[in-house]
Amino acid sequence: MRLAEVKLGPACVGTSINKTAVQTIAVTSGKGGVGKTTIAINLALALAKAGHNTLLLDADLGMANIDELLGLNVNVNVLDVLKGNCSLEEILVEGPDGLLIVPAASGNKDLSELGAVECAGLVHAFSELKGRIDSLVIDTSGGISASVTSFCRASSQVLVVTDNEPASIRDCVAQIRHLNKTNAIAHFHVLANMVFTARDGSELFRRVLDLLGDDQDIVISYAGYVPRDDLLRKAVSGRQAVINVYPGSGSAVAINNLARRVISWRRPGLPHGQLEFFVERMLQQNNVEREVLS
Ligand SMILES: Nc1ncnc2c1ncn2[C@@H]1O[C@H](COP(=O)(O)OP(=O)(O)OP(=O)(O)O)[C@@H](O)[C@H]1O
Ligand SMILES: [Mg+2]
Repeated sequence: MRLAEVKLGPACVGTSINKTAVQTIAVTSGKGGVGKTTIAINLALALAKAGHNTLLLDADLGMANIDELLGLNVNVNVLDVLKGNCSLEEILVEGPDGLLIVPAASGNKDLSELGAVECAGLVHAFSELKGRIDSLVIDTSGGISASVTSFCRASSQVLVVTDNEPASIRDCVAQIRHLNKTNAIAHFHVLANMVFTARDGSELFRRVLDLLGDDQDIVISYAGYVPRDDLLRKAVSGRQAVINVYPGSGSAVAINNLARRVISWRRPGLPHGQLEFFVERMLQQNNVEREVLS
């Protein structure tokens, strides 16, 4: 395994936006319940606050809950787009700081069982979006289902969240291996969530490195840590984002630092604006799958 950026750079990096490409970040995990949605919401908000036109896609298609966690009123969702009942633009909800949210439908079997083709259809709807998007943050479900792998494959960056539990670390490594071997994703950012100290975070990352062994096909980077924080839980029970209601808390500071790092990640160097890169990768993958099947 190759290692990139093990040592974190300075937390404060430039925030200038490369206007030529959209940064798409899939937030995922091997095991459920490690904080993906919490991180995705707060990261997207931090990016919006930094002046990036940001779209947050609830792609945890079986257990969608971003609207609930932000206390938003949602009547229509991506299922309505897939059924052709409305356009993506019509289901967009505006959250705090101008953050745009694409809500999903919770507990909907149709959505949770979407395959690569349907995911591509969904993502294709993005190309109809008018107006400039700089960053797309995607909250996926955990594990290695077709929808998770499709969203990760189509994204320019994959952020794998894990906590300190042995089962979470094991599943984090299994997910990275799976995404690499079966989907040719080479680079992963690993975020240590719900740890107590910076040192715990680094040690967690070291364990992930050790378990991945010397696989030369995989490059992993440490995305930093977010501490276990009671204020974050308090914010969640008040249906608020911690970076809004407790901006000085340990978790809010860490998530803002994460956002600065995300801004510094290389953007896809394609001469497209909007979300074509994301859409094209989804569609490309579908074509490959169709060829294999026929
Ligand atoms: N840094 C943190 N400190 C304290 N609590 C946290 C932290 N991160 C997440 N949590 C709590 O952990 C629980 C799980 O978080 P969340 O729902 O974001 O996880 P998830 O990975 O999206 O779960 P799922 O797999 O079910 O979608 C929530 O109660 C959340 O408030
Ligand atoms: Mg979630």
